[in-house]
Amino acid sequence: MIGDTVITLDAINAHYGASHVLHDVDLVIKSGTCVSLLGRNGMGKTTTLKIIMGLLNPTSGTITRKGMRASRTEPHLIGKWGVGYVPEGREIFPNLSVHENLLVAARFRSGATRKWDLERVLTLFPKLTSRLSHLGAHLSGGEQQMLSIGRALMTNPDILLLDEVTEGLAPLIREEIWAVIEAIKVDGITIVVIDKDVSRLAAIADNHLIIVKGTIVFDGDSATLLANPKLLQRHLGV
Ligand SMILES: Nc1ncnc2c1ncn2[C@@H]1O[C@H](COP(=O)(O)OP(=O)(O)O)[C@@H](O)[C@H]1O
Ligand SMILES: [Mg+2]
Repeated sequence: MIGDTVITLDAINAHYGASHVLHDVDLVIKSGTCVSLLGRNGMGKTTTLKIIMGLLNPTSGTITRKGMRASRTEPHLIGKWGVGYVPEGREIFPNLSVHENLLVAARFRSGATRKWDLERVLTLFPKLTSRLSHLGAHLSGGEQQMLSIGRALMTNPDILLLDEVTEGLAPLIREEIWAVIEAIKVDGITIVVIDKDVSRLAAIADNHLIIVKGTIVFDGDSATLLANPKLLQRHLGV
């Protein structure tokens, strides 16, 4: 239901070995909204996504997913709660065809609405249709990103995490990706997106978090974000 809370992070701390990378991170993500994570390189954006996913366990704090509160995530549960992940670098299977990349991801969780299938993903990304038999390794960067998003949609996620979603892509391809994210949002999927393009993010996201050295220094809506040019200059250099 729109407005329900899908994810809550409460006082999350995270480490890689001795290095303390997230400091008391709090965040709330409501169903059907789009949230952006902003910040310079190395600030903790990807780590925050890993915590949301359950790929990394916090050293303290709690995560609540769809009302289920936990301080650790059992690995076998990660696939069960409806999260789609489009990692930085896309990580498609280079030796599988486009078709195979999409089919291996197809998953229908019990209780999930069976909305996304091959046909619908190809309608969203018509360019992939003529590439179905090509190997992942032979795709352009833009096609790989489309495939990575399409693969995440094949899992019929409730929430989609997009890391550096337009990084390294040509301007026209970026436009296509933003249009797709818009369509996915309209479809009702909750989105957490990382990108450098503040004006695009301000247009598409409902809420924004700026992370500086693992601490959230801003949490607000697009109007508030854009009304703070000094904040953008200081923390993002834009
Ligand atoms: N696997 C890892 N092992 C050790 N340190 C890591 C690892 N991944 C990230 N870090 C460090 O954690 C900090 C946050 O990284 P990350 O969340 O990837 O930042 P961002 O996504 O904002 O660029 C950085 O200082 C980075 O060097
Ligand atoms: Mg990152």
